[in-house]
Order: sequence, then C-alpha cells, then structure tokens
Amino acid sequence: MPRQPAKPFRSRDWFAAPGRSDMTALYLERFMNYGLTPDELRSGRPIIGIAQSGSDLSPCNRIHVDLAQRVREGIRDAGGVAMEFPVVPIFENCRRPTAALDRNLAYMALVETLYGYPIDAVVLTTGCDKTTPSQLMAASTVDIPAIVLSGGPMLDGWHEGELVGSGTVIWRSRRKLAAGEITEEEFLDRATDSAPSAGHCNTMGTASTMNAVAEALGMSLPGCSAIPAPYRERGQMAYETGKRIVDMAYEDLRPSKILTREAFLNAIRLVSAVGGSSNAQPHIMAMAQHAGVALSAGDWTEFGYDIPLILNMQPAGKYLGERFHRAGGVPAILHELAIAGKLDTDCLTVTGTSVGENIKGRQTKDREMIRTVAEPMLERAGYLVLRGNLFDFGILKTSVISDDFRRRYLSKPGSENIFEAKAVVFDGSDDYHHRINDPALDIDENTILVIRGAGPIGWPGSAEVVNMQPPDALIRAGIETLPTLGDGRQSGTSDSPSILNVSPESAVGGGLGWLRDGDIIRIDLNAGTCNALVEKAEIERRQQEDGIPAYPESHTPWEELYREKTGQLEQGGVLDFAVKYRGVAAKTPRH
Ligand code: FES
Ligand code: MG
Repeated sequence: MPRQPAKPFRSRDWFAAPGRSDMTALYLERFMNYGLTPDELRSGRPIIGIAQSGSDLSPCNRIHVDLAQRVREGIRDAGGVAMEFPVVPIFENCRRPTAALDRNLAYMALVETLYGYPIDAVVLTTGCDKTTPSQLMAASTVDIPAIVLSGGPMLDGWHEGELVGSGTVIWRSRRKLAAGEITEEEFLDRATDSAPSAGHCNTMGTASTMNAVAEALGMSLPGCSAIPAPYRERGQMAYETGKRIVDMAYEDLRPSKILTREAFLNAIRLVSAVGGSSNAQPHIMAMAQHAGVALSAGDWTEFGYDIPLILNMQPAGKYLGERFHRAGGVPAILHELAIAGKLDTDCLTVTGTSVGENIKGRQTKDREMIRTVAEPMLERAGYLVLRGNLFDFGILKTSVISDDFRRRYLSKPGSENIFEAKAVVFDGSDDYHHRINDPALDIDENTILVIRGAGPIGWPGSAEVVNMQPPDALIRAGIETLPTLGDGRQSGTSDSPSILNVSPESAVGGGLGWLRDGDIIRIDLNAGTCNALVEKAEIERRQQEDGIPAYPESHTPWEELYREKTGQLEQGGVLDFAVKYRGVAAKTPRH
C-alpha cells in the first residue's frame, strides 16, 4: 500500500483531477520538457517546492544554489518530487534605497507562487536579514507544510590576529578612521578580511538573529541556524531538511500548528539571550501578525527584558559564528533558558516533537562562549520599550550599552538610568553626512543625535541609519558614542546604544517632526520614557507652523504601493491589508 497523506495533496488537483484529463495534460506537459515523467508527477508523491533565495544579487544566500542539490536528494530519497523556483532577491547592504522594501515584496511574490502552483510543501532557504522573515510570513499566509534551511554564516574573519566580524568591523573601523588611527585602505582591508567565505554575516547581526529565531520558533531542524555555510554539516543539514519536509507533507504539519504565541515568546527570549539584532523586533512582530498571533509592545518588556545575555558573540560580546556553532548553537542557548525555567518547552516544532525533546543533551561544553542564566555576561539584556511625547513606541537594545556609556550617562548618583541631552536634528542621512562635522552645530558630550524621515513611509522602507557616529573632533577627543534617536532602524551588527524604530515616524505626523535643535530630551530608563521638555502649547504651535517634514517622492510603483499599504515598525511594518489572509492554500485556486 502506498503511503497515505493525512490530507490529500493539493498538487493532485492539478495533475490527477478525475474527469479532467484535458486540463491535466496541459498542466503536465511542460514539466516534461526538462525530463520529468508523467508517472512521477501522477504517482501521488508530494511536490516539494524549494524557495531559492540565493543568486548573484543575494550573495549572503548564494550557498543555497549549491545546497539545493542536497535538498533535492533528501526530498527524492524520502519519496517527494522537488521543484526549485526563485524568490525575489534581498541583499541587505547593497539594495537602495533600502532592503527593507524587499521584505514585503518578496513576501507577496512568494505567497502568489506557493498558492498558485501545485506545491504541497516547501523548503524555505534563508540567510541574509529579511530573507528569513519574508519567507516565514508567506508560509503563514499560505499555510502549507514549510521548513527553514538556513544557509549559515561565513567563516570567522581575522585581521592581523584579531577577530573581525561582518558589519561590526565597519562601525568600529569608521570610528578609527574618524580618529585618524587608520587609512581608507586599511579600512577596506579590515572589511574584506571580515568576509572570508560564502555565507551570511558571521556576527550576531540580523541574519544570525533571524535564523536563530526561525529555529527557536520551531521552524528548522535543531542546530540548523548556526552551522557555518562552508562546513560539511551544512550539506548534511540540507539533506536532512529535504527528507524531513516530505514527512511533514504527509503529516500535514503546517506553520499554523507551530507558530503559536508561546513559540513567539520563546523567540523573544532567545533574542535577548543572544544579544540579537534590534531588527528582530519588527520582523518578529511581522511574522506574528501574519501567523495571527497577538503580540504587543508590552510582551517585549514582560518576556524579553529580564532575560540576561548569555552568548559571547559580537556585537554584544567577543566571538563569531564558528565558535557559536562549536559551542552548541541555538539548542545550547535554549537548553540554558529551559533549565532556568525561561522557555516554554512544550512548543511543537518541525521535527514533529517538542522543543524540549529537541534540546535534550544539548548543553554546551564551552562556558567561555555560552554562559548560564545564573552567571551571565550581563543581567537584563533585552530591549527596553520607551514612550513619551515624541513617540508611542521606540526600543533600546540594552545588551550593547558599553561600560563607558553607562558611566557617562546612566550612573548619576541619585538618578541612575536617567539623563538629559540637547537635541541636534537631522532630516534623513544625507543631511546628517553633510552637516555632522559642522562646528556650528556645537555638538558635545551632552548632545543627542536625532534622525527623522527614516521610517517606512519617509524613507521609504525604513533605513538602517540611526546609529550615527559623533563628529570626528569628538571621537578624537575620546567620545566614541553619543546617544541617538530616530524613526529608522540600525544595523543588527551595530554596537550603538540607540533609540530606534520610533513609531509613529515623522512622515505620518509623529513627534520627531516638531522637535527642534536645542530642545532638551529627558530619557528615563527606569520609567521607560523619553520626552522632549517642550510645553504642550508650544508643541501645538510648532505642529501648525512646521507641518510634516518633507520626504522624497516615490520613484517606483512598488515604493508608492508600499507607502500606501505599510504600517509602522511597532507593528512590524507589514502590509496592513495582507494580515487578514491566512491559510489561503485551504482553498484550491480555480482552474
Ligand atoms: Fe546579508 Fe549581513 S548583509 S547577512
Ligand atoms: Mg542589516
């Protein structure tokens, strides 16, 4: 007896619909032209999609072009038929005006592909920052069995005997350049050395964070996310993932059974424990929205803030991806959280068993790399959610606040964690770059650098520009970081203590629009507030007088549509109308 699926495969409706041989013939014939046989397609085997995110334009994910072969072999050995297809490229560092536009674009395109073609289950190939959330968002909307295969980080970068991690090396080197400690050529050498192989960023930037999140959510096989791209285990993981998705197709194990509120809370805890990227906030919110899971700003504080930093990886710590993998990767992190009672171990995963089952025996043996919750690198390492008269929502990633910054701003006797600073306001990043070294701005240690026009609507897409560095003269005087604030995002590899993702943004009437140079901003981390010390009447007067700060017009059709339909970062910056579509594969598209 051939194996029976829990639910008939949807591809049967294309390839084996009773009484419609005319139509079936049409569906079948073109797949033959690369050598598939009618028998293979009509044998009742599941058709397994491989969503190929790698390409020359997506270099962080390019390893998947090779890995797909091992995925196919796994699919074939387990009794499925593989069909590989491209997803919209997303390359974080290179896409202008920002790769953030691509997350929702790739999401939309993948929904249509998975829905409109005879695909029963899918392998999502992830890597660079937004390639993970975009595909998981689509998997929820369609709700066919889906599994994540990460491409893995690059090998560790070394420069003159020192570890240099992707992204982080840029932020650190540009300070050295500004201080006159290195030349431009040396800057480029350091950047090149940080990227020694295929793979995504080797720091705990957004890519490593989001792949770890996928694993913590239960959407990839245990240990998948941290294996460096060139390691032999990566190919083996690709094979196992291909095999497993076929079983998931038979079991009808869909994302809606895995992506529960409890799974998302586990992901939030994981992000704190690894010192993960501040971009995890909008991406996790976006994935939750598409999964139909209610998450709020308060959940980040309630479930994430008290979790300590236990992973010693850049930018919050010292090491890079290879050591993380050798120390046990995500299962070892989840193991520490579980024994401290800070993980919901009952959550179902793609293995068909619980996360608790998956992490059995996965305790680390490398205590330099992965600490215990009882003796962490840093207590209370989650995001702090702030609000006040300038915005309803902004986050501060506390795990990257340096000792020097704490000493200068947060250690005033009697008012610990409270400070005031004088605003200098920039309209977008061009304005910042043109003016930052202008002595007339009078920027000193008591300045907070503010950037507006960098959110989803203003940019458009929301740009990674809030981690502004101080003027060169200040850096030469030993002030390497100033507090910053903005309605954009910052790179997950940045170690800047910034208030980010501010919602609502200035372009939709948010409070940064009326802020002026010289205003005093008071930040109280104990109370979770950030307020400009400006009278209400004065705020109203300025709103009347100034209106909404100008932002560039749309240059492409997608920019215009994106601006029309996209919400604020607090809620994940999703296409607002799209979240009501869930489980669309339950209805077979008409012929
Ligand atoms: Fe693609 Fe970092 S730029 S992973
Ligand atoms: Mg980034």
